[in-house]
Amino acid sequence: MKIIRHAGNWAVLAIEQVFNKIFGNPLNPFYHLGSLTFYFFWIVLVSGIYVFIFFETNLAGAYASVEYMTVQQWWLAGLMRSLHRYASDAAIITIFLHMFREFCRDRYRGVRWFSWFTGVPTLWIVVMLGISGYWLVWDMLAQYVAITTAELIDWIPMLPGSMVFNFLEGNITDRFFTLMAFLHLLGLPVGLVFLLWTHVSRISQIDFYPPRPLAWGSLVALTILSLLKPAISHSPAQLNQSPTVLHLDWFYLNIYPLVDLVGPGWAWGIASGTTLLLLILPWLPPRGEKPRAEVNLEHCSGCGQCAQDCPYGAITMQRRSDGRTFEFESRMEDSLCTSCGICTGSCASSNPFRVSKGVLKSGIEMPWYGAEELRTRTREKLSALSGAARIIVYGCENGLDFRVLDTLGVAILMVPCSGMLPPSLLDFALKKGAAGVVVAGCREGDCFHRFGNRWVNARLRGERKPHLFAGTERERITVFWGGKAESHELLERVRSFRDELEKREGFPHA
Ligand code: HEM
Repeated sequence: MKIIRHAGNWAVLAIEQVFNKIFGNPLNPFYHLGSLTFYFFWIVLVSGIYVFIFFETNLAGAYASVEYMTVQQWWLAGLMRSLHRYASDAAIITIFLHMFREFCRDRYRGVRWFSWFTGVPTLWIVVMLGISGYWLVWDMLAQYVAITTAELIDWIPMLPGSMVFNFLEGNITDRFFTLMAFLHLLGLPVGLVFLLWTHVSRISQIDFYPPRPLAWGSLVALTILSLLKPAISHSPAQLNQSPTVLHLDWFYLNIYPLVDLVGPGWAWGIASGTTLLLLILPWLPPRGEKPRAEVNLEHCSGCGQCAQDCPYGAITMQRRSDGRTFEFESRMEDSLCTSCGICTGSCASSNPFRVSKGVLKSGIEMPWYGAEELRTRTREKLSALSGAARIIVYGCENGLDFRVLDTLGVAILMVPCSGMLPPSLLDFALKKGAAGVVVAGCREGDCFHRFGNRWVNARLRGERKPHLFAGTERERITVFWGGKAESHELLERVRSFRDELEKREGFPHA
């Protein structure tokens, strides 16, 4: 599994690098796959409502009403029909990329199992939505879909097993068609909304909407595609005839050729086996978890910054329980914590200047890597430095390959996430003799822990608490965001940063 994941991750990073060059990090569609899927669902919803105005939900009128939209009203209803189809296809693409990406980036195991596990059934609902949609057109493709679905359902042992027979006998009734329409228009969408709500319920501050240029760009692309290649129907369904040529939508209807090829039993086996494999994937093998963050109430002022910054909603603010004058205190929910340490970076008590003698305790920190460890390791790393290049690099564990810096003689201190660093620690490093500080981690827009590099940037710009001290020499701090493929760019950045520092007056030579 590890080999597959690593190979996939390598490919994903390489493709994303190309997209970063074309779109720039903030607009890279790979960093917005979840929100793009939501957006495509919106297009599907709006276009679907419009199409429904003209659609007749009965066997006799369905085909003609769709033809009317496609031919007579091609400029709006037809366009909406095409948008409805292509946005649904686009959603399937983004869902699979999203799933593949989370897998390759190893963001589906451990605490994150929940998002993965609840994502899997959404695949079934989305595919069933697509299938029922094709059914409603009631053309030859719909007939093929209906009869092959009947074969699949008839195969299930507990059911009476007469569905195909009914179709072939022409016994399909309006009632059955209405049931399909109900599933497509109401039952499945409601199920999908509920599942998606569950899917994202353990993640905080979700971007439900992609950045505007990406949203407009996608809409324009789908509209152009709809105008160039409008969605059309096959000839009307005729149960006494077999379809000869079918234009399948491979995104939604791929199960049907499989049924033709291997029979319904095997098709069920493959579909349910794949689903089962996907469901248990987070435990193949499970992720080795580190101890979660803990609240140290005596150092917590209840300011709530950790709760605002936590990417997984693992921290909530509760009424004070220790009788101190503060109104609130932080409370940890272990089952949601990914041990990223971002909360330590958010906590004002992590300030290394706060306690000069004795152990520094943050209001919230991981027992294995807290504010004191950050301070002590910073001191140790700095004392081991010699020469002019007194630079300390705080590196996040999830992106770059820091071995490229070995030749430079800089100090490297690894942290689970760049967001774990309180800005005061960077100031501390400078005060304790570093000529410069580099904070380096995942590509911008693609933090392994969702918000680490975003919070670092905001804190250094003074837009998010805790801020850098007013007197800190900001020019002696730099950031670098990148993936493994950008490791050599990191080397170049650190080298040129060192050269800049050397040119500066007051460079603290050892
Ligand atoms: C049906 C459509 C889906 C939509 C609209 C959707 C949407 C989202 C969104 C918006 C997020 C939050 C991303 C972020 O802000 O970092 C997310 C997270 C996630 N999704 Fe989906 N998702 C879908 C299907 C799936 C499927 C099929 C899977 C896998 C089986 C999946 C796996 C995950 C995982 C593992 C995360 C958590 C990532 C993390 O913890 O950083 N999703 N999804």
